[in-house]
Order: sequence, then structure tokens, then C-alpha cells
Amino acid sequence: MLRTVQATRYVLPLREGGSLPAIVEADDLGLYVVKFRGAGQGILALIAELIAGEIGRALGLRVPEIVFAEIDPALGRNEPDYEIRHLLKASPGLNLALDYLPGSTMFDPAARDTASAEEASLVVWFDAFTQNVDRTPRNANLLVWHRKLYPIDHGAALFFHHDWANMEKRIESPFAQIEHHVLLPWAAEIEQAATIARGKLTPDVLAEIVGNVPDEWLEAIPGGLSAAERRAGYLDFFHRRLAAAELFEQEAIRARSRHV
Ligand SMILES: Nc1ncnc2c1ncn2[C@@H]1O[C@H](COP(=O)(O)OP(=O)(O)O)[C@@H](O)[C@H]1O
Ligand SMILES: [Mg+2]
Repeated sequence: MLRTVQATRYVLPLREGGSLPAIVEADDLGLYVVKFRGAGQGILALIAELIAGEIGRALGLRVPEIVFAEIDPALGRNEPDYEIRHLLKASPGLNLALDYLPGSTMFDPAARDTASAEEASLVVWFDAFTQNVDRTPRNANLLVWHRKLYPIDHGAALFFHHDWANMEKRIESPFAQIEHHVLLPWAAEIEQAATIARGKLTPDVLAEIVGNVPDEWLEAIPGGLSAAERRAGYLDFFHRRLAAAELFEQEAIRARSRHV
């Protein structure tokens, strides 16, 4: 079960991204990076952030804690910036938030950041499984904090959920985009990572992760299916993608051998 906090203060926008995430203070006095449900990317970005993020955690990666942040529209009342006021007004109820890691920096090979073969291989497997294209050298979405790696920003993962009618085609996708992965040069143990990862993503673990997604988010997906039907759809995808994992694992190994 994920925790729910109440947002008490809008602190600072994080302007890099298009979705206008922000640092927000909550009633537990913690600082969080909030992904707003009223942002242009819509509810699917929040669902991907939650499901992929928790899959990463189940694999043993250090995804910052994910919580729900309840936003009272009055929070933006005194916000001078129109865009921010508008975003807060459009985001009542549950939003997604990640524990804010103060003083973290973005993983940057040019700044001589490195990763162990074990961890890099697991991150590569994770991103190929969830079909996340947002882990490139230009935009690593991998924070370095106290010298350890923290994967963030999984809102663009699970791209099959933008096109349920063609989900079949995605299940066996080798995910050729893995060749642009920032950690590929270090990922010398993809085969070993695959064995570990497959062992961790049991049906129970996946069901618990998908069970965390609020009904109202799932019901907001266009198409008129119930929350239970959507959950079953996600689980069906994950089970079948795991069964076909060989395809994306071999693709990642090939992509790496072309580069090193
Ligand atoms: N948990 C976090 N702790 C510290 N900084 C963060 C955290 N999450 C995001 N950031 C910062 O905010 C930026 C934008 O967040 P991100 O999740 O990448 O959203 P997007 O790229 O979709 O705007 C990141 O590039 C990073 O600099
Ligand atoms: Mg980002």
C-alpha cells in the first residue's frame, strides 16, 4: 500500500520537463516532486510513473518512494503564476509524488559517473521490459544521490497503454530503442540480470503493484472499461511480455555488442 499525504505548500516548479512537475511540501513535513494529474500528459503518465516505478523497486532498484499527494484546489489560490495556478486547479484529488532527493545530480557519463555491471544490466532489463525510452545520455532520468543511482521519470513507459487496440504488437517488441540507453556501456551482465528480474516479477508481485493504481485513474482512461478490466489488461500485458522476455533481452545484448 502506498501512503497518501496532503500537499500543504507549493514550493518550486521544476521547469526542465514539459509536464511542469513541482517540489511540494506535505503535511508530513516531507518535500516531494509532484506529477500533476492536470498536466498535459494526462492520467496515463501518472499510471506509468506508478506502475513502472514500483516494478523498478520490486527489481531492487532505488526508485524514490512513491506516494499519493492529495491536492486541495485552494492550494494555488495565491500563486502569482497563471500556469501554475491553472495546473493546481486542474489537479484536485490524488496526484503522484516522489520523495524529493535534495542535492542529487543527473547521471552524466561526461562527468565520469559510472555504474556497476550488475546495476546497469538490471536498469537496462527494467527499461526494455517496461518500454521506457527516457533513459538516454541527453536525458538520463537517473539521479545520483550519495553516490548511488536513483531511477526517476517513468511517465513515458508502458507505451502500449496509449493504444490498447494494438497491444498485441507491443508484447513481443524487441524494443530496438534500447540502443540509446545511457547505461548500455556498463550493462555487461544482462543475462544474469534477466534471471534475477524474471524471478522477482511473480504474478503476486505484479498484481500487488497494479492493485495500487486508484480506480478513478483507471476509469479515466478513454474506452469506458472498468478499473478491474484495466488492471486485468495491464497484468495480461506483463505476464505475456515476461513470457517473451528472451526477445528484448537478446536485442539488448546485441545492441550492446555493437557499441563496445
Ligand atoms: N525525486 C526527485 N528528487 C530530486 N529531483 C528530482 C526528483 N524527481 C525529479 N527531479 C528533478 O526534476 C526534473 C523533472 O522531473 P522528471 O520526473 O524527469 O519529469 P519530466 O522530465 O517529465 O518533466 C528531473 O530532471 C530532476 O532534475
Ligand atoms: Mg525527465
